Amino acid sequence: MGVCLSAQVKAESPYNTGVNSKNVSTDGNDLSNINSKVSSTSMPPTPRSEGEILQCSNLKSFSLSELKTATRNFRPDSVLGEGGFGSVFKGWIDENYLVASKPGTGIVIAVKRLNQDGLQGHREWLAEVNYLGQFSHPHLVRLIGYCLEDEHRLLVYEFMPRGSLENHLFRRGSYFQPLSWSLRLKVALDAAKGLAFLHSAETQVIYRDFKTSNVLLDSNYNAKLSDFGLAKDGPTGDKSHVSTRVIGTYGYAAPEYLATGHLTAKSDVYSFGVVLLEMLSGKRSVDKNRPTGQHSLVEWAKPYLANKRKVFRVLDTRLEGQYSVEDAYKVATLTLRCISRESKFRPNMDEVVTLLEQLQAPNADAGNRNPSCNASRPRRRSADDVSHRRATPTAYPRPSASTLYT
Ligand SMILES: Nc1ncnc2c1ncn2[C@@H]1O[C@H](COP(=O)(O)OP(=O)(O)OP(=O)(O)O)[C@@H](O)[C@H]1O
Ligand SMILES: [Mg+2]
Repeated sequence: MGVCLSAQVKAESPYNTGVNSKNVSTDGNDLSNINSKVSSTSMPPTPRSEGEILQCSNLKSFSLSELKTATRNFRPDSVLGEGGFGSVFKGWIDENYLVASKPGTGIVIAVKRLNQDGLQGHREWLAEVNYLGQFSHPHLVRLIGYCLEDEHRLLVYEFMPRGSLENHLFRRGSYFQPLSWSLRLKVALDAAKGLAFLHSAETQVIYRDFKTSNVLLDSNYNAKLSDFGLAKDGPTGDKSHVSTRVIGTYGYAAPEYLATGHLTAKSDVYSFGVVLLEMLSGKRSVDKNRPTGQHSLVEWAKPYLANKRKVFRVLDTRLEGQYSVEDAYKVATLTLRCISRESKFRPNMDEVVTLLEQLQAPNADAGNRNPSCNASRPRRRSADDVSHRRATPTAYPRPSASTLYT
């Protein structure tokens, strides 16, 4: 397939300036480069038509019947998850020819089948093809192909064996053991790198739907961002923001975006801060079942995050004995900055990456464990030291992406 040298243009945005050059590096990940591309242009903005997007993407165009075969006719017992736009099924394809293969042979894929609900779904489907068709990065999930046939719209991704961060943080049951402190920091860093790449000067994309269900984990707990249906080109030139309809997921959207529809990279930083807080606390960003005053995790946690002696009150009790006060306070301070009401006080994602990298250093503050964290208590088994047994997970309330009315 050829390399696409045209301007990058989004399906939705009226701000299609398309000055991006994409030169995507990998940092040791084993992805093959099916999507990798180098594009550059000095061309003026040129919106791409649907045909151009599909033709230009280095993606395989699957037929519906191929994907039926690959997923054993979308068997209900191969459903990996359900989102606002449809269900995701497990399937198998041949590694070299990318054609359906016998279950259990070839490579495993995840096939997202959009509910057939018209234009809205199509726009997001196309945005996903447009963005993920151009990017190749160790912390973005790899899109292998798509299917567009009559009213059917499907997307074919690499399979992420450990599922979403959401499941690991919030599902209960023996299959989902609590993630350890060090794995949470690793996942946070991986996801931050994914966002930093999107925000970088060459890419300039705002992700707009950063939340735990969109952070997927491979077998080694490498985290990758999925779901680019709401992504948008960032502002260019002397523009400070992009104006959009307010869409996203309750509990993650930045306050200024909710109030004005003005979207910037700092909106993603706010969402990242919310996820960091969910990872620290093991609590959902919004939960009406919590006592009055605690429905919004951000509002409840802020005073504690700012106080070194009280920060442990926010921390997930399942992490007891695994972190030092110093490290916990550093992450809390970073979280607090990311969720600043005023976007100018939020760090950018490069800074977030640097700070999280410092926390991953071996033995960082190892000698400074918080005695109140009672390291001698028997530790629950965590996800990195457990062999997973399948069990029916308990039901749980979950947020999903939608238009957010204010
Ligand atoms: N590539 C994949 N590999 C493995 N599991 C996946 C993959 N993609 C999605 N899933 C699973 O399917 C679930 C549904 O994904 P989907 O992106 O459709 O919705 P969501 O992100 O959960 O919610 P929303 O519709 O609000 O974005 C995910 O939460 C995840 O558990
Ligand atoms: Mg998703």
